[in-house]
Amino acid sequence: MCGIVGYVGKQLAAPILVDGLRRLEYRGYDSAGVAIHNAEGLGVVRTLGKLRVLHEALSEQPLSGTVGIGHTRWATHGRPSEENAHPHVAGGVAVVHNGIIENHIALRRELEADGVVFSSDTDTEIVAHLIDRALRAGASKLVEAVRISLGRVQGAYAIAVVSEHEPATIVAARHGSPLVVGAGDGEMLCGSDIAALLSHTRDMVFLEDGDIAELTCAGVSYSNLAGEPVERESKRVDWSPVMAERGGYKHFMLKEIHEQPEAIAATVRGRLDLDAGDVHGGEIGLTEEIAKRTRRVYLVACGTSYHASLVGRYWIESLAKLPTFVELGSEVSCRDCVFFEDDLVIAVSQSGETFDTIGAVKAAKAAGATVLAVANVLDSAIPRMSHGALYTRAGPEIGVASTKCFSAQLVALLMIAVYLGRRRDALDAATGTEVLQALCEAPSQINELLGDADYVRSVAAQMAHATDVLFLGRGYNYPIALEGALKLKEISYAHAEGYAAGEMKHGPIALIDEDLPVVVVCPKDRTYEKTFANIQEVRAREGQVIVLATKGDEALHELAAHILWLPEASEWTLPLLTVVPLQLLAYYIAARKGHDVDQPRNLAKTVTVE
Ligand code: F6R
Repeated sequence: MCGIVGYVGKQLAAPILVDGLRRLEYRGYDSAGVAIHNAEGLGVVRTLGKLRVLHEALSEQPLSGTVGIGHTRWATHGRPSEENAHPHVAGGVAVVHNGIIENHIALRRELEADGVVFSSDTDTEIVAHLIDRALRAGASKLVEAVRISLGRVQGAYAIAVVSEHEPATIVAARHGSPLVVGAGDGEMLCGSDIAALLSHTRDMVFLEDGDIAELTCAGVSYSNLAGEPVERESKRVDWSPVMAERGGYKHFMLKEIHEQPEAIAATVRGRLDLDAGDVHGGEIGLTEEIAKRTRRVYLVACGTSYHASLVGRYWIESLAKLPTFVELGSEVSCRDCVFFEDDLVIAVSQSGETFDTIGAVKAAKAAGATVLAVANVLDSAIPRMSHGALYTRAGPEIGVASTKCFSAQLVALLMIAVYLGRRRDALDAATGTEVLQALCEAPSQINELLGDADYVRSVAAQMAHATDVLFLGRGYNYPIALEGALKLKEISYAHAEGYAAGEMKHGPIALIDEDLPVVVVCPKDRTYEKTFANIQEVRAREGQVIVLATKGDEALHELAAHILWLPEASEWTLPLLTVVPLQLLAYYIAARKGHDVDQPRNLAKTVTVE
């Protein structure tokens, strides 16, 4: 978690750093800070709370200077406070860091024995002292001092360092946490992700683990931990700065919900062969050979991506007739998960950086399985370490609660299911065409659903007081119920549970009374009759039911306190539709409560801790 940014150029660094941090704030937002070289040496401002507090502090206490680093924090070591905020300073050295230094206790003791007095509880301060010590011990250049220090450090990091010894340089390094370097016009930048650099450049270098970059106005040079020069290729990213702006919406989350039709259309673009009822394997990171040798599919993911994977399981089982398992990334390391060489492991992660999912990928690779990444962020860790990658094309997702990336993941998984099914003779061309045609119709059906947003808002107004909400669904409506519950709890802080509707009678039915809103996903599909019966059971106990139903379903209309209509649609793509009213419901409930929807408490978008 945490976001870091660095700027060296001819413009004032402070506004550029704050703007970069604003775009990284989704990574953490409990405190923030900058260190900038100015006439008096290294000026440091750190503040507790969101970035706007730093912004205000910098307005009152401006820092001039054209070289600096910045940080937005999600606390790991030490509570959120000004002292624990980055940059951390030792001597004339300032460091910002994203990641975890695993051997920080041993290093702290060693430095304390050397007379160092620490001013924070963080693991990062250790790095600042190590670099300062290396410089005082005679390291000729900042890059050399950083290299010596990193040789002592175990764990994951992306760091950016400035020092009074070399005021025109930033040294940045990566091991396990993402770091991107970009060249603007007479300026160089680095940051935790593309979004931080987008307003300056679209040509970016994604550092590899073990890389150290030395940035000056004149350019950048790369080396490794052994001090050898390395070459890194620049890539042009196709995200534009405008995509990372709110564009008139009150929150990024609302904008991103509305961007789902385009996210879906972009994710399928150029990848389908509608006439052949097929998907182009090269476009989705799969080959004929992989498809044919696969005996089982294992989906690994966390949070919302896990819910997308649960939907993917239904599709892969139905369309490719392959046994399919889904596991939480964090559970893979807690079990003796058995992977085989003929498994296809699909790691689903919008950020491509989630620590737990990375752990699962490592375990699968160690067992010789083939790993396919489904990710939204170009060149992020999971696609890099996988055998193939299918990039969703949802564009930057800034709201911490994932919406459009979820939809794009669903699209990716449906395409994978079709590709596997066609290669394995489990799916004929006509059915393939039917599925893919349904996929192509989804964007306009979602637009239709978005047209009902005001009605969802009025339902949300009546539910806003609820402290507990139950979400039910069967078949692929079950993961959508889980996702609806997750969205609601994340941003509205109401307690919400998703359940397989068939499980209600095995326990949750005890919760039902006239105060408990029960949201049921009940479109006209093969689960309809059974779910309908569950709704009657809820009604029989005075529970108030909010139902997602197919337009014209009068029987449900009579039972429901509120009904959210779904357009007539193919069963194959219903999950792409049913999730939308649930996202809107969560959004409007949270917005009505006045919550910070885009940055809900305690959360961060990129979860790089275990
Ligand atoms: C919820 C949400 C999280 C993420 C989870 C995994 O709205 O966004 O649950 O889905 O942290 O993140 P990725 O997909 O980046 O691996």
